[in-house]
Amino acid sequence: MKWETMLLEEDCLKLIDQRKIPQEIEYFKARDYQQVIFAIREMVVRGAPAIGATAAHGVYLAAVEFKDLENEDFQKEMDRAMQELAESRPTAVNLTWGIRRMEKIVKESEILERGKLLEKLLKESRTIAREDVEINKELGRVGQKIIPPGAAVLSHCNTGALATVGFGTALGVIRAAHAAGKNIKVFVDETRPRLQGARLNAFELLEEGIPATLIVDSTAAVLMQKGEVDVIVVGADRIAANGDTANKIGTFMLSQLAKVFNIPFYIAAPISTIDFNLDGGEDIEIEERDPREITHWQEQPIAPEGINVFNPAFDVTPAENITGIITEKGIVQAPFKENLASIAPGGDKG
Ligand code: MRU
Repeated sequence: MKWETMLLEEDCLKLIDQRKIPQEIEYFKARDYQQVIFAIREMVVRGAPAIGATAAHGVYLAAVEFKDLENEDFQKEMDRAMQELAESRPTAVNLTWGIRRMEKIVKESEILERGKLLEKLLKESRTIAREDVEINKELGRVGQKIIPPGAAVLSHCNTGALATVGFGTALGVIRAAHAAGKNIKVFVDETRPRLQGARLNAFELLEEGIPATLIVDSTAAVLMQKGEVDVIVVGADRIAANGDTANKIGTFMLSQLAKVFNIPFYIAAPISTIDFNLDGGEDIEIEERDPREITHWQEQPIAPEGINVFNPAFDVTPAENITGIITEKGIVQAPFKENLASIAPGGDKG
C-alpha cells in the first residue's frame, strides 16, 4: 500500500482525503480539533474505527490548543471540545469510545504537569491507532474461516484500510481469505449515495489484486437469485447488546435477501463497535444526511428541485438475520445477548 489512512503527528492529523479517491490521493491536514470535526462531518474520513481514532487524536489536538489555560478552564474547554467531537456523527459508537479513552487521561490534568499530560494523550491516540490495526489483522485471521475456497463474496460500503487505521474489518476478512490462497472473488455494491463501494472498496480490492466486480446496489438480488453469491460480509457502526447491527444503508435489505436465498450473512467488527449499554437496535440513533447527497452529483442536480428526500446514512439489521458476528475474540453466534456479553471488556455482563 502506497498510502496511509491517517498520520498522527504532534502538531496535526493528516488524513487521506476520502472525498477525492479514486481520482486523487491527497492528504487533508487537520491542525486543530475544529478541523477534525469538519473532516468527520464532511467525510474526509469515514468508517467507524477510522473516525474513532480520528476523534481521539482530535482530543489530543484540543489539549495542545488549550495547554496554557489554568486547570479549571482547561477542563471546561476540554469537556466542550470532547462533546463537540462526539456530536460530529451520531451513529458509529467507536467515535465516543475513542473519545472516552482519551477523556480518562484528560481527567488526570490536575495531577499531571501539562507537558506530561500532552505526552500521555499523544501516546494514547497512537496506541488506539496501533491497536486498531492489530485487532483488524486478528479479526481477519479469525474471520477468513467463514469464506469457503473459491467463494464469491458480496461486500457493501467500504470496510477496508480506509475505514479503519489499517487493514480493515469486513474487507480485512476478505484480504485474509485472499492471502490464504482461497481463490475468492468479490461483488462490490456501489453503495449509494456516497459510493463508498465503487470509489473506495473497489480501489482497495484492485490495489490488492483481489478479483472484484462492481455492481449497482439493486443487482445484488439478481446475483443471489442466480446462486452466484456464497457469503456476505459487511461491517458495523454500532452493534447493540442483543446483536442488532447498524451499518451502511442497504445492509438490512441485503440481510433480508440473504434469508430468502439462504446465504450466510456475517458482520465483521471490533469489540469497540459493540455498545453494551444499548439493549436493542431500536435505540440506535440513525444519522440523516444532506438531501443533496441524493439530489445532486458533483454539484449538478440529478433530481427536480423541490422533491422531498429521505436520506438515512445507516439502517439496522435485526440479530435474527445475522449468521455470526466476527470479532477479534472469535465468531459470535446466537444467542447473541449471552454470547456477546461473554466477550465484553471487563467480563460477562449478561
Ligand atoms: O458513512 P460511512 O462511510 O462512515 O459508513 C461506513 C460504514 O457503514 C461501514 O460499513 C462501517 O463503518 C464499518 S467500517 C470498518
